[in-house]
Amino acid sequence: VKKIRLALGKRSYDILIGKDLISRLPAICLRLGIGRDPFIITNGPLFRRYGREIRASFLSRGITARFEIVPDSEKAKSLAIASQVLASLASYDVKRTVFIVAFGGGVVGDLSGLIAALYKRGIPYVQVPSTLLAQVDSSIGGKTAVDLPAAKNLIGAFYQPRVVVCDTSLIRTLPRRQVANAMAEVIKYGVIGDERLFGYLERHHRALLAADEKALAYVIGRCAAAKARLVSQDEHDEKGIRMALNYGHTIGHAIEAAAGYTAQYYHGEAVALGMLVGARISLSMKLLRKDVYERIENLISRAGLPTSIRRIHFSAIYKAHLHDKKFSRGVNRFVLPVRIGKVKIVSNVPHALIRDAVTACMGG
Ligand SMILES: NC(=O)c1ccc[n+]([C@@H]2O[C@H](COP(=O)([O-])OP(=O)(O)OC[C@H]3O[C@@H](n4cnc5c(N)ncnc54)[C@H](O)[C@@H]3O)[C@@H](O)[C@H]2O)c1
Ligand SMILES: [Zn+2]
Repeated sequence: VKKIRLALGKRSYDILIGKDLISRLPAICLRLGIGRDPFIITNGPLFRRYGREIRASFLSRGITARFEIVPDSEKAKSLAIASQVLASLASYDVKRTVFIVAFGGGVVGDLSGLIAALYKRGIPYVQVPSTLLAQVDSSIGGKTAVDLPAAKNLIGAFYQPRVVVCDTSLIRTLPRRQVANAMAEVIKYGVIGDERLFGYLERHHRALLAADEKALAYVIGRCAAAKARLVSQDEHDEKGIRMALNYGHTIGHAIEAAAGYTAQYYHGEAVALGMLVGARISLSMKLLRKDVYERIENLISRAGLPTSIRRIHFSAIYKAHLHDKKFSRGVNRFVLPVRIGKVKIVSNVPHALIRDAVTACMGG
């Protein structure tokens, strides 16, 4: 088992990465001494697939796990669902030592973390991310949230888990499109600060898409270490140190919004396109060499991600981009690659450059 420490003083925790870790989950929780009554938040499909196994492993330690099922979609990230789960938690929490286990993708993780933060002003929680996206990104760093109709993640808190358990075996049942979706964030880690990871992805993208556990463990380890480093320097995202993580996200979010947050574009797919637009802006500002641009484009394509924006108008993307919350006081801000492993934050990118870069990435 690989172990990465996220250093945050008293709130430090481990990120564990390895095969079949859910069978060790009870031991991991008991060692933390955070309670004896796990309240496991998950969704229906995951419960049907893994519920029996998790229940049995807790039972073998004399622990009865309580499962709480939430809807399997972004709709679970709502105040209504949070309030239902909180009520259920309160009625369960009588003469018990309850802690929360978030077993699922980023949706379950964000919702469960917020519930853990709110209930009794904070009870311990454990992240058991089951998607590759959650393993490399959302389960780490303590950003928890639910959505409002006005926008995503509007209600949230910074609240760190007590441990993150990344079981690479879970990725075997994850649909390939979801694996590719996460590859966008993985490629992002390579471009913003890890040339070695980028080279590894160029050689092993096939193994990763096939959920090869060795390849997954390496990649999750590199990404988790990078995120842990950034989070421990800037826990509350105030110093701009986590800014590089937004590479591809300025235009990526605009594409998601322009597509109406439908299944047309998964988050990672939109981010992949956003990374390409960013790389094109770099190219036209002469910050990036053409051959390096091509390496980024090739890797995105080989990772099973889109390389051209389809069926959305530029005007819709641009309008959504203007509403981005990262857009501070009318000044846009882009994370632009200068080489593999290094980015630069550039403000006030001219409208014409953005337009040309977006339209160059449009196809049909
Ligand atoms: N907190 C953060 O820092 C942060 C960062 C990035 C994204 N997020 C949030 O994460 C969410 C997206 O997370 P996601 O991409 O994991 O999506 P998700 O949680 O919706 O999971 C994607 C799908 O995969 C299914 N699934 C999960 N694990 C599976 C498995 N092992 N086998 C088969 N199917 C499985 C889920 O049921 C779901 O249908 C968004 O709400 C986003 O806002 C948060
Ligand atoms: Zn993202």
